[in-house]
Amino acid sequence: MDDNKQDLMEKIVALCKRRGFIYPGSEIYGGLANSWDYGPLGVELKNNIKNLWWKKFVQGRDDIVGIDASLIMNPKVWEASGHLENFTDPLVECKVCHQRFRADEIEDACPNCGEKNSFTETKVFNLMFKTFVGPAQETSNVAYFRPETAQAMFVDFKNVIDSTRVRLPFGIAQIGKAFRNEITPGNFIFRTREFELMEIEYFIRVPKSDKEWQKEFEKWKEMMWSWIVNDLGIDKTKVHELEVPDAERAHYSKRTIDFEYDFPFGRKELYGLAYRTDFDLKNHQEFSGQNLKYRDPEAGEEFWPHVIEPALGVERSVLVVLVDSYREDEGRVYLKLPAKLAPYKAAIFPLLGNKPELIEVARKIYLDLRKEFMVAWDDRGNIGKRYASQDEIGTPYCITVDFDSLEDGAVTVRDRDSTKQERVKIQELKNYLLSFINTEKCFTS
Ligand code: GAP
Repeated sequence: MDDNKQDLMEKIVALCKRRGFIYPGSEIYGGLANSWDYGPLGVELKNNIKNLWWKKFVQGRDDIVGIDASLIMNPKVWEASGHLENFTDPLVECKVCHQRFRADEIEDACPNCGEKNSFTETKVFNLMFKTFVGPAQETSNVAYFRPETAQAMFVDFKNVIDSTRVRLPFGIAQIGKAFRNEITPGNFIFRTREFELMEIEYFIRVPKSDKEWQKEFEKWKEMMWSWIVNDLGIDKTKVHELEVPDAERAHYSKRTIDFEYDFPFGRKELYGLAYRTDFDLKNHQEFSGQNLKYRDPEAGEEFWPHVIEPALGVERSVLVVLVDSYREDEGRVYLKLPAKLAPYKAAIFPLLGNKPELIEVARKIYLDLRKEFMVAWDDRGNIGKRYASQDEIGTPYCITVDFDSLEDGAVTVRDRDSTKQERVKIQELKNYLLSFINTEKCFTS
């Protein structure tokens, strides 16, 4: 990483800690291997991303339903899915400092001690997190924390069909935690051992030709682009598609595209889109002995649907949004967050924090707007400092109640990105803000 990019990452990590977005996990005990905790603003940003995704892909569509499954599933699930056998990374150890690395991520020298060509033979390392169910730590009680949410969508496939009115093509979606015993976690929240996924298994009829599944794949590719650019507001010139070569694809995939982003630490995977064929349903039928075929209500024939899978990491979404929105402009630092994602949509200030008449009006506005969306209150320090403080956390609008407000019933609204100001009647404030939040336009654009 060059110095400027390193510097940028350090600034973002420092801002996240200072302002309550993300803290190092278990910090008072010296931390724990790249684990991170979300603070008051981080949890808002993260929830806003998850809610937007859920609204767009589940609540906003007729053809996708949601589930929320257990993190620990019957271990047979992972036999059937192939994870026990295939969910591995190549591991090497430095013979000098005994640090372990992913073999595909190192060159000749040890990234820790610098020793050249000192690595052991490559070993295969399974990334599944093992645990025991119940008090006896016996082999028969071994279970695993799920490494992906996807399997629950296959395991619950029959239940969903039997309990809802879904008809092909349709999707099952889930947001939830996944665990992977990564050899080299790092780059802040980019790669961690515990993370959240937003996944959809989209079931389609058995394709009669490659063209048929490719058409569906293309549709999902476009929807993912739209999510990245229109919903997360990411600069599309920094996003790239990577056709994952045969040898590097997951064991279940016939085609995978990675969406990559130019992070400060390099071009890295943001999301994945895979064509899983009928691999999972077929295997679960074989291992469970249950019929997991879809019965066509018209023709009566039974078959295993094929699957297109958009898989999105929540933490990578948070990271890409933070990195992409970070701005420094003539000494001013601000997060150019889309209003829908910003933890606070607006901040309300009485011009002076010691004037009860200003506080009374401002407080009323604050309590009124709070019914609609998250708003911040600040009555300390000068207005310039309050603006700077809200800019840094990406609050799109600051509202100031001044002495004129007592006369004209209007307030000053200041736009984060342009810093321009406009007078708005208090009565119109809620609709005024909602119109900008919903359209992502600023009043100067
Ligand atoms: N069900 C398919 C699946 O899990 P994946 O490519 O292994 O596919 C999907 O993971 C997404 O999950 C990735 O594109 C990335 O956004 C996120 N992800 C994967 N491993 C991660 C990790 N260790 N830490 C944070 N996010 C991760």
